[in-house]
Amino acid sequence: MAKKPSRTYVCTNCGAVHAKWAGQCDACGEWNTLEEMAVEPLAASSAAVRGGKGRRVALQALEGEIKLPPRTQTGIAELDRVLGGGLVPASVVLVGGDPGIGKSTLLLQAASKLAGKGERVLYISGEEAVDQIRLRAQRLGVAGAKLDLAASINVADIVATLEAEPDVRAVVIDSIQTMWLETIDSAPGTVSQVRACAFELIRAAKRRGFSLILVGHVTKEGALAGPRVLEHMVDAVMYFEGDRGHQFRILRAAKNRYGATDEIGVFAMTDRGLEEVSNPSALFLAERRGNIAGSAVFAGLEGTRPVLLEVQALLAPKGGDGAPRRAVVGWDTGRLSMLLAVLETRCGLKLSGMDVYLNVAGGLKVAEPAADLAVAAALVSAASGVPTNPGEVYFGEVGLSGEVRQVAQADARLKEAAKLGFDRAVLPRRIARGNTRSRPPEGLHLREIGHISDLVSAEMEAE
Ligand code: TYD
Ligand code: MG
Repeated sequence: MAKKPSRTYVCTNCGAVHAKWAGQCDACGEWNTLEEMAVEPLAASSAAVRGGKGRRVALQALEGEIKLPPRTQTGIAELDRVLGGGLVPASVVLVGGDPGIGKSTLLLQAASKLAGKGERVLYISGEEAVDQIRLRAQRLGVAGAKLDLAASINVADIVATLEAEPDVRAVVIDSIQTMWLETIDSAPGTVSQVRACAFELIRAAKRRGFSLILVGHVTKEGALAGPRVLEHMVDAVMYFEGDRGHQFRILRAAKNRYGATDEIGVFAMTDRGLEEVSNPSALFLAERRGNIAGSAVFAGLEGTRPVLLEVQALLAPKGGDGAPRRAVVGWDTGRLSMLLAVLETRCGLKLSGMDVYLNVAGGLKVAEPAADLAVAAALVSAASGVPTNPGEVYFGEVGLSGEVRQVAQADARLKEAAKLGFDRAVLPRRIARGNTRSRPPEGLHLREIGHISDLVSAEMEAE
């Protein structure tokens, strides 16, 4: 009986596989992201298994000597940190991010740095002509680097070139969505092309031992296959994020077979490319004015790194009829509503007739519940008109009964505050058991509070 060619549909946003086409992906809820993908009939693969062609694999004990992979540092410390100490030979890293966020800039800088250390590095662009890359290199001040460039989208040509250049240590492919294999019957950027091209390039990397860096654009519309469909094929996935209206960029590891995933790298986009930011707190607090009501400094964590941020709140009498406005930038709207309710119910603060605006200055998005206390402090300060102490930082989660709860890594937060010259911290009261906090840094005065009303009464007293 002739078998019908089987078909599956892959979501270009999240990579979920569906047996039937649908307008919306069940897995991620995006619309019009399902795309057909041809699948190899299963018969071919099971014939290889049943034909007895397999060889026995060597089994080994769990205990044994561990050989850590050697690493090549790119020379950009913030990138090396996220990679887990540098590039691993024969490993594949996917760098995803919105178009225009700075992926090409970062990788051209990294590739030139690496080439400057005497490594053979190839930068292959499917998006820009060689002259454009040269122009960019001039602007970045790296035009003198001994980097090999090519403009090509043909994966067969690229692989053939790599086979002929045995001493290549690292290859950048910018971007995987522009790559194309003649044998696949669909346009560049479709799931089938992206997958097949990545597969060929990854095979070449594993065989020849070079580090491969793939650039991938993330687009919400799903017009191009999102890098999500590649995530399981590569060793590490990094996302380059940031608000295009702001200067800073964050490189975040989402998966890393050779390192931790909670590391971040912080950069600032300048007119001479990306600059490393080794002290992000100073960057985020640079424009803070201490004497304005409605502002509080949050001692937060990004991955394993403590980062101080300014939280700003503004209250205005409700305009017009209808519900008051709750506008939030950089934080969660639901969380703000909860906090406003807690402040009203547990502390008697009258906020329901007010429009509330909340902003995390600098453009960073805060996801931690530990920011509750800083947001509450900013709101209380805005309501009372009394600025918070400019030398004070806040952190702690607030529960529905108004209790202030413990958060992770208090020590690291306090240390960062002290490092940046803060001398006071408002934080959750220690619980007797499970107290692991060590001595606070020299010169830092701690105010431990158990309930959010302690915050309100202290602010009002200062009046
Ligand atoms: P790019 O690296 O091309 O982004 P991607 O590869 O992620 O699409 O960066 C594009 C943006 O960066 C562009 O809007 C201009 C800006 N930029 C600078 O601000 N300074 C620079 O030195 C460079 C090269 C780019
Ligand atoms: Mg680019």
